Amino acid sequence: MEKIGVFYGTTSGKTEAIADEIDFNLRKIDHEIFNVADGIGEIENYKNLILVTPTYGVGELQRDWESHRSELENMDFTGKKIALVGLGNQFTFGESFVEGMRKLYDIVTARGGEIIGMTSNEGYLYKESEAVIGDKFVGLALDENNQDDETPDRVFAWIKEITKEFY
Ligand SMILES: Cc1cc2nc3c(=O)[nH]c(=O)nc-3n(C[C@H](O)[C@H](O)[C@H](O)COP(=O)(O)O)c2cc1C
Repeated sequence: MEKIGVFYGTTSGKTEAIADEIDFNLRKIDHEIFNVADGIGEIENYKNLILVTPTYGVGELQRDWESHRSELENMDFTGKKIALVGLGNQFTFGESFVEGMRKLYDIVTARGGEIIGMTSNEGYLYKESEAVIGDKFVGLALDENNQDDETPDRVFAWIKEITKEFY
């Protein structure tokens, strides 16, 4: 398998812990992890991408992702496979749960990217989310505020699936 680039943004640290969890699950596979606070230019060098963002404001991208938005919007994602992870709080923000992930989805699909790793919305108690298309999240939805006990199994199962689909 070609090397996987994992890119995450975090404000209060929960997404960094998820990046560590992903790192652990990819331990037998070639990969590198980047905090987007340090830049996003490395995205160009990967055909296999995992992009991870929490949601802030009401349904917005995390601030480091947001500050690189125009650079992201000028990238060509043709020929890249992209797996998304969104963090959010389904009770406090039950009408915009993990919607930051949808922002990334819209940007990369508009520029030719192929999304892999959509997941069932069963087992979550949000009211509304633009990150759901049909009955699937556009990536892996994680809620460290309310369902952190589910996270290890969710990440494990999802990594197993996406690594079957990457180049
Ligand atoms: C000001 C603020 C706004 C938020 N807005 C949303 C939201 O719209 N949707 C959502 O699902 N979660 C929302 N959250 C929850 C965060 O996405 C969640 O706590 C996440 O785990 C934080 O990740 P981080 O520690 O990596 O920054 C918000 C949190 C804060 C503090």
